[in-house]
Amino acid sequence: TDRYAVFGNPIKHSKSPQIHQAFAQSTGQDLTYEAIAVAEDQFTQTVESFLSGDGRGLNITIPFKQEAWALASVRSPRAELAGAVNTLYRDEQGRLCGDNTDGIGMVRDIIRNHGGTIKGKRVLILGAGGAVRGVLQPVLEQNPSCVVIANRTASKAVELAALVSHLGDVSGCGFDTLDGQCFDLIINGTAASLQGEVPPIPATVLADNTWCYDMMYAASPTAFCQWAADHGAEKSIDGLGMLVEQAAQSFQIWRGVEPDSQAVIEQLRTALT
Ligand code: ATR
Repeated sequence: TDRYAVFGNPIKHSKSPQIHQAFAQSTGQDLTYEAIAVAEDQFTQTVESFLSGDGRGLNITIPFKQEAWALASVRSPRAELAGAVNTLYRDEQGRLCGDNTDGIGMVRDIIRNHGGTIKGKRVLILGAGGAVRGVLQPVLEQNPSCVVIANRTASKAVELAALVSHLGDVSGCGFDTLDGQCFDLIINGTAASLQGEVPPIPATVLADNTWCYDMMYAASPTAFCQWAADHGAEKSIDGLGMLVEQAAQSFQIWRGVEPDSQAVIEQLRTALT
């Protein structure tokens, strides 16, 4: 039987095994998927030994996504730009390939699951860390009219914007310069939600029809989703759908079949609450 796994540390709370086992069942694929805690200094050798046995593919999570990027000999353009890899597998020539499905997962959740649009929209992205870098290329590929990256440390937002400036109208700034601007879609990729905090942005960034998207999710609305709802956003969406969609994209890369994510999203949502 083909083996798959997610490598991370810590990994106990990963929902990936449950998601991929559900995909395998619904598509009739014979495979196993497990969560494996890898010691920080054992990453490379654990990848090599997994993929030289029955292992066919890996998901990679914190803290190994950058290391996985460096280890891959072939990287997709979106992974190249993300500077991080969440999906590893070997191609027919045996080369170690790395992809990053986080951004396409989020874009698919917005467009397919929620019926949203990015094309032609004014997009604000909060944060300038790894999570944001991981989604920039797939967002820009949708041809938004502009993307503003705003971060607590403004210089990091400016640097990140420069990295993708060839892909569209992108600029970087601090939170304090958002006064007087408003957006159609606001994506929160800061780690503020982890502390139950909302980045200090003026509520004037919201118009009546603004959609808000938090890359994080929780059993009850995240601080950012709550803030969005309180200030009149048309929709506020958390990142549970992104989690399942990035898994669906990895599954498709490995198996060549696209699983239905809707049932799995509903199943996870029910289990959360
Ligand atoms: P990740 O991989 O989750 O993106 P990261 O690379 O450490 O983690 O980035 C964390 C992001 O959340 C950064 O943009 C950080 O802002 P700084 O660059 O100024 O550090 C942002 N962040 C973390 N805590 C925050 C808070 N309480 N309010 C606003 N932004 C916060």
